[in-house]
Amino acid sequence: MTTELTKRPCSDSRVIQTNRVLPLDTNNLDTLFGGKLMSSIDIVASISAAKHCRSECVTASMDSVDFLKPIRQTEAVHLESFVTYTGSSSMEVFVKVIAEHLITGESKVAATSFITFVSLDENGKPKKVPAVYPETEEEKYLFHSAEDRMKVRKNRRKLSTYLAEQIEKYHF
Ligand SMILES: CC(C)(COP(=O)(O)OP(=O)(O)OC[C@H]1O[C@@H](n2cnc3c(N)ncnc32)[C@H](O)[C@@H]1OP(=O)(O)O)[C@@H](O)C(=O)NCCC(=O)NCCS
Repeated sequence: MTTELTKRPCSDSRVIQTNRVLPLDTNNLDTLFGGKLMSSIDIVASISAAKHCRSECVTASMDSVDFLKPIRQTEAVHLESFVTYTGSSSMEVFVKVIAEHLITGESKVAATSFITFVSLDENGKPKKVPAVYPETEEEKYLFHSAEDRMKVRKNRRKLSTYLAEQIEKYHF
């Protein structure tokens, strides 16, 4: 019997978005502005999260966005995302950004990111999500390495919470 918590393959949440780099999206070096790319990453990842759990989700954290290569106006930007791992109410989404030179056809991985989303119920409380299972080699690699990233995230959350408490003492 299929229920809303039936395991789903990573491929069910796959999202692919392709953009052009327009002049207004660039920085002073004429390469894609980092904040613009981060917004696109958050958008595609949020769609992957919602496709996986079919409920409202919020971004809980962004591990990092590693801008590995600059992206120029001669390139198309392909963003690809999918849910790689789940906790009880949280989902890890991987996003890779590929820049493709439109004249030569040469492609490169320009950025990668892991983002955590939390599924919310109608009262805005964390809600259980279905588990995910990997099928391709890339999905399996990301799935099996996820627990280590989860541990780092848990630790970082504790540190961020402590830091916020200290900072609040100075302001309020
Ligand atoms: C994310 C949020 C819903 C968590 O709510 P909470 O009441 O603290 O819930 P919990 O402590 O029970 O955590 C729920 C899940 O989120 C995970 N989580 C919470 N904060 C996290 C963080 N900073 N990084 C990674 N995971 C996190 C927990 O590990 C837990 O996962 P699990 O259910 O899979 O075990 C809450 O902190 C929030 O609303 N934050 C603001 C979100 C936001 O505004 N985002 C930007 C706009 S979309």
